[in-house]
Amino acid sequence: MTHPRPHLRLGVNIDHVATVRNARGSAYPDPVRAAKLAEKAGADGITAHLREDRRHIVDADIDRLMAALTTPLNFEMAATPEMQAIALRHRPHAVCIVPEKREERTTEGGLDVASDIVRLTDYIAPLREAGCRVSMFIGHDPRQIEASAKIGAAVVELHTGHYCDLHAEGRFAERDAELAALAQGARLAHSLGLEVHAGHGLTYDTVTPVASFPEVMELNIGHFLIGEAIFAGLGAAIAEMRRRMDAARTP
Ligand code: PXP
Repeated sequence: MTHPRPHLRLGVNIDHVATVRNARGSAYPDPVRAAKLAEKAGADGITAHLREDRRHIVDADIDRLMAALTTPLNFEMAATPEMQAIALRHRPHAVCIVPEKREERTTEGGLDVASDIVRLTDYIAPLREAGCRVSMFIGHDPRQIEASAKIGAAVVELHTGHYCDLHAEGRFAERDAELAALAQGARLAHSLGLEVHAGHGLTYDTVTPVASFPEVMELNIGHFLIGEAIFAGLGAAIAEMRRRMDAARTP
């Protein structure tokens, strides 16, 4: 008898609804409205990244998301004192620590946990005590996975951006090697007792192999879904992503 694999959660990242809003300084489109719609369409959680420069999500969005959501909020943030204070005030279900450089367009590489063990252990301790599930957004490098376990993180989110870029560039042999390294990273993280998530850059074309890794429990997907919503509507875009994720999980 085959056992069904555990449900793969979909966290919908609503940052880029705020990007469109902020492009005109208007009150619309509202990321909280998008989050509510995403919940109805099958999202298991909502992800939002409060960047230091507030280029998309702003503080008031986090206040409103905390009040409005019926699913867990995954709060993405840089490991700064300001962000720690905001997270401790709201106590979201999950806090995902991401690297952040002001000049980058998006989160370009994973966090270097291995070079910052002492500071990050101290940094995440109050978040853990406040009941947040702390996740480290890292590449598949075993050193980073082992360091994340060492500092006491509950979760690692594996960065799928490089895999997605290689796919988009048609570099399929390198893409497959990157995918194999991600699969190995997922196995190592799981063996160390870490919950495994994945995300960044995922699309309809790239989601299936990552969704089929049995150790992966959650995918966080944003930019593609918000773009696809222009053509299909947000509910339909999420439903289609959900369908592909579920199909990848079916033995
Ligand atoms: N996971 C993390 C940690 C991220 O920083 C991002 C981007 O904010 C995502 C997932 C979602 O990536 P994308 O918007 O490319 O789907």
